[in-house]
Amino acid sequence: MTNRIAIHGDLLDFSAEPAWGETESAAVRWRPGHWLLVEDGRIAAVQAEPPGPDWPRDDHAGRLILPGFIDTHVHSPQLDVIGSYGTALLDWLDTYTFPAERRYADAAVAAEGAALFLDALLAHGTTAAVVFPTVHKVSAEALFAAGAERGMRLVAGKVLMDRHAPDGLRDDVRQAEADCRELIARWHGRARLAYAVTVRFAPTSTPGQLAMAGRLCAEDPTLYMQTHVAENLDEVRWVRELFPEARSYLDVYARAGLLHRRSVFAHGIWLDDADRAALREAGAQVAHSPSSNLFLGSGLFDWRAAEAAGVAVSVASDVGGGTSLSMLRTLADAYKVQAMAGQRLTAWKALHAATRGAAHALSLDHEIGSLQAGLAADLCVWDWAAGPVGARRMEVARGLHEKVFAWLTLGDERCLAATYIDGVRRHSR
Ligand code: GUN
Ligand code: ZN
Repeated sequence: MTNRIAIHGDLLDFSAEPAWGETESAAVRWRPGHWLLVEDGRIAAVQAEPPGPDWPRDDHAGRLILPGFIDTHVHSPQLDVIGSYGTALLDWLDTYTFPAERRYADAAVAAEGAALFLDALLAHGTTAAVVFPTVHKVSAEALFAAGAERGMRLVAGKVLMDRHAPDGLRDDVRQAEADCRELIARWHGRARLAYAVTVRFAPTSTPGQLAMAGRLCAEDPTLYMQTHVAENLDEVRWVRELFPEARSYLDVYARAGLLHRRSVFAHGIWLDDADRAALREAGAQVAHSPSSNLFLGSGLFDWRAAEAAGVAVSVASDVGGGTSLSMLRTLADAYKVQAMAGQRLTAWKALHAATRGAAHALSLDHEIGSLQAGLAADLCVWDWAAGPVGARRMEVARGLHEKVFAWLTLGDERCLAATYIDGVRRHSR
């Protein structure tokens, strides 16, 4: 028997990439008071007419329905250090993050942490994510298992780090390769999971380990690769000392075979024109992490320069450097970062980057990121306001962009009414 559900509300998604600065955009698909007909987890049809009596219904009339958000860079064990005071990147890692990640050597801690983390994503409106667990194989196992249980679209992998990290947080090339191969065999392509060769960042991997990571990518082009690049100036200087032969920080990865269509590079604040050209050439993406960049004082990412150079830009919470799992909070920070450079990020551009844009950059746009027939019914239902200020602002808003922009600027997870994965409610307020 087919599993059916008809979901009703005001549908907002995108049929193309909105242009910079356009508050009126043909790329916006606004379908108020429409029905999504979902069969066996897939969107079968989108229509204005109510379905027949044989369809069970979830009626969210008057609420906004968006594709589930895609967070392209986030650390599952770092809920324990979110909002930690007083440090920039390298000190922050040593003081807070590494000690917290050590606990994930324990399978029970890793399982409990993975469940908490994924349920928190769902409670913030995120249905797909590219995730760093820890160096411990059990932490990746726990994350994949918890993702499969929830039917979530996750891209993740055991973190590689074989130097410049404390005891209990280092692997070695031989063991790391064996662990990666086992995890790939068990999880890559199973349920809605994919494996990412996960290099923490260049300073914590030896050249031998980077080369091993590159070999894994070369053997299987369906694998993703995730890492950090050019986030903080002290970090950039350190990489220059460690890899004097490389032209740039990004070039360290390129030389190891880690720059390709399925590469996700977090931050990318301190890239130059040649780096941007290399990213475009490879079809790789930058996971812009504005909340983290502001909180750690890392710098202001130039989104327009990246776009002008043809680089795909997605948006990421980077919790726990970022201070919220909410993609609404993250996009509001992205707006402010661009404003500092005299640029204005439209609601369309912002929401596109967190849905269809990210799906496209991850080569997953045949599955997620839009509300259209054939795609997975991964979506979220939002209230327009969560308090009197938002409610008042919505009352006086004129026009769709003004309303959606104010919603995204004022809103957060308190506006979330329900999260569906494959048409199944996985979170309700
Ligand atoms: N660079 C290396 N590791 C990390 C991390 O955990 N968070 C951030 N923001 N940057 C990093
Ligand atoms: Zn990060």
